[in-house]
Amino acid sequence: MAIAIQQLHPGFVGEVSGIDLRQPLTKDEVVQLQSAIDRYAVLVFHDQDITDEQQLAFALNFGEREKARGGTVTKKEDYRLTTGLNDVSNLGKDGKPLPVDHRTHLFNLGNCLWHSDSSFPPIPAKYSILSARIINPKGGNTEFADMRAAYDALDEETKAEIENLICEHSLMYSRGSLGFLDYSEEEKRMFKPVLQRLVRTHPAHGRKSLYLSSHAGAVRGMSVPEGRLLLRDLTEHATQPQFVYVHRWRLHDLVMWDNRQTMHRVRRYDQAQPRDMRRATVAGTEPTVAQEAAE
Ligand SMILES: [Fe+2]
Repeated sequence: MAIAIQQLHPGFVGEVSGIDLRQPLTKDEVVQLQSAIDRYAVLVFHDQDITDEQQLAFALNFGEREKARGGTVTKKEDYRLTTGLNDVSNLGKDGKPLPVDHRTHLFNLGNCLWHSDSSFPPIPAKYSILSARIINPKGGNTEFADMRAAYDALDEETKAEIENLICEHSLMYSRGSLGFLDYSEEEKRMFKPVLQRLVRTHPAHGRKSLYLSSHAGAVRGMSVPEGRLLLRDLTEHATQPQFVYVHRWRLHDLVMWDNRQTMHRVRRYDQAQPRDMRRATVAGTEPTVAQEAAE
């Protein structure tokens, strides 16, 4: 089988055919997909009925598995998945949808805000690889924004203004904006803000992109309201329809995206019905700023 790629959006997103992700990839396939993810930033694969192990093996072609410190309020003993994948479902350990007032459920609703995965540890995630195991009957589309095109479309004055800005990212900012404000002392330590550049340069092709995320809650050198207004303005700009691709999930779709060049969000869906999505996360290799964490 030969890999073929069809572009799904004028600016980004490639639909990949001619590959079976249950099988180990050849060296040549890895090279082709690596260059495709650099170029398209989001890759869509259909009809990939894979196991957790196969998904993880696919991810490891592109780097190491991310073992991020605390991206969740769920205690380890309550994890539904023990295979090394991130659980992005609405399910509890018993396989049933979590009660609507469950703390994990309330925390996970933050995924409906525009974000870049794992921008809250000092070394943020590189790729996310999401597999659809159970599709929700209502809603649940995932939307992606091309942050390179969004950066390119800024006026020169704004580009100069933001070039060297540093933001503070924390899960407490994104969840806090939805009114989720109660954390234990241990969680506060775990979710301590880290620093990220607002403008990133991609190592493969050198294009700049806006590194935005709902986890960003402050800009260094600005008052909190001033910084948040800037971040809101930029987010509004970056998520205009011309920069956005809407993915309507089919069972056994697998979508891979580059968190360094895109933001995404899931749209609201029927929480009484299951939605089982499993994510393999490929770790980044360096911090976006020299400092490791906000004091
Ligand atoms: Fe996400």
